[in-house]
Amino acid sequence: MRAVLGVGGGIAAYKAAELARALMERGFAVQTVMTAAAQEFITPLTFTSLTGQKTITSLFARESAEGTLASAVEHIGVAQGADLLVVAPATADLLAKFAHGLAGDFLSTMYLAFTGPVVLAPAMNTAMWEHAATRANLETLRRRGHVIVDPQDGLLACGTVGPGRLAGIDAIAGAAVEAVGLRRDLEGETVLITAGPTREPLDPVRFVSNRSSGKMGYALAEVAARRGARVLLVSGPVALEAPAGVDVVRVETAGEMHDAVMERIEEATIIVKAAAVADYHLSHVPTHKMKKTAMRLSLELDPTPDILAEVGQKKGDRLLIGFAAETDNLVEEARRKLRTKKCDMVVANLVGGEHTAFESDENEVVLVMSTGETAPLKRAAKREIAGEIFDHALKLRLALHAAQ
Ligand SMILES: Cc1cc2nc3c(=O)[nH]c(=O)nc-3n(C[C@H](O)[C@H](O)[C@H](O)COP(=O)(O)O)c2cc1C
Repeated sequence: MRAVLGVGGGIAAYKAAELARALMERGFAVQTVMTAAAQEFITPLTFTSLTGQKTITSLFARESAEGTLASAVEHIGVAQGADLLVVAPATADLLAKFAHGLAGDFLSTMYLAFTGPVVLAPAMNTAMWEHAATRANLETLRRRGHVIVDPQDGLLACGTVGPGRLAGIDAIAGAAVEAVGLRRDLEGETVLITAGPTREPLDPVRFVSNRSSGKMGYALAEVAARRGARVLLVSGPVALEAPAGVDVVRVETAGEMHDAVMERIEEATIIVKAAAVADYHLSHVPTHKMKKTAMRLSLELDPTPDILAEVGQKKGDRLLIGFAAETDNLVEEARRKLRTKKCDMVVANLVGGEHTAFESDENEVVLVMSTGETAPLKRAAKREIAGEIFDHALKLRLALHAAQ
């Protein structure tokens, strides 16, 4: 497998040298392309020495010492010969160039000529990362099917604290491996995933719901599909696009989610219940809008169907992964849920306070397994957490089978 490693002009350019190594360790032959700005931070010689291949530093090939031209249209040749393009650090400038199809240097020209999978690992100052222009460019690139390895939170070189630090080298190299389909360890699996909140109507215009954004469930669906699974995603109302290659069933209420899950349970080999299903609803919804009065209003709500408990009863030898969002006693509550709902694993996350997972692109969870083990996962992008959940799930299934 041949990877082109594009290096942009950011402080994190020095980390790209380590990434070149990590890609080679995973079986890639690596050719580096550096922007002019990248060469202000690290020398081409570093990459040439590490990869054993010429580092490309300019669009216009110069004559070699022997007087011959390497290739007049090298950007096309490099694009055609590569299986993968990984850009790290992807500067705000490169994201903008790629999103808009500008082709003013070797890397952006080669990007336009390249038709294979693209992995982008942005790194920049928090304000640049959060700027509406960068957000819009990322959205365009995501929609184009590129893999974005989100930056981490942390202390940045500019002295600010926030998102913008280049993702971990293992995460970027892992995304590269997945992007070229080297990692297909979920092939043959059918993964049924629920995501998002549910909405329980109070009258024709009002409803009760919760703060779930669906991002964790959608990240799980995206990762599972990339790793070769057939994915059935039962989604509550969210503002997210369906990941490529995933069958989405859109539902609104807990009752509809219950029916959609029960209809598909037989097909699944792994079930992940990441949705934040409402616990209560109004059984008899008035057909007319409730009028505002000066009087206090009380509503009597009834419990919704307990989808997780019912799946636990019917699961057979399917792997069942539940989620527990708790404000206190995280692991104890997860263990209780594991037992009472017959889950094989509960992904427990603390909600409330500044580290809440709701609406965030990141999460920090503890995996609580039916074998008694626990695995705390460090705060990371939800896609990264999703990958680790499946890694642990596959190991857990082997352990459960071995114990039978
Ligand atoms: C010291 C320094 C650090 C920089 N760090 C970053 C960075 O981390 N991310 C980024 O997007 N731009 C950063 N920039 C700005 C880019 O270098 C600048 O936008 C440049 O045009 C990017 O060129 P390229 O995208 O062709 O590599 C930095 C600039 C300087 C002077």
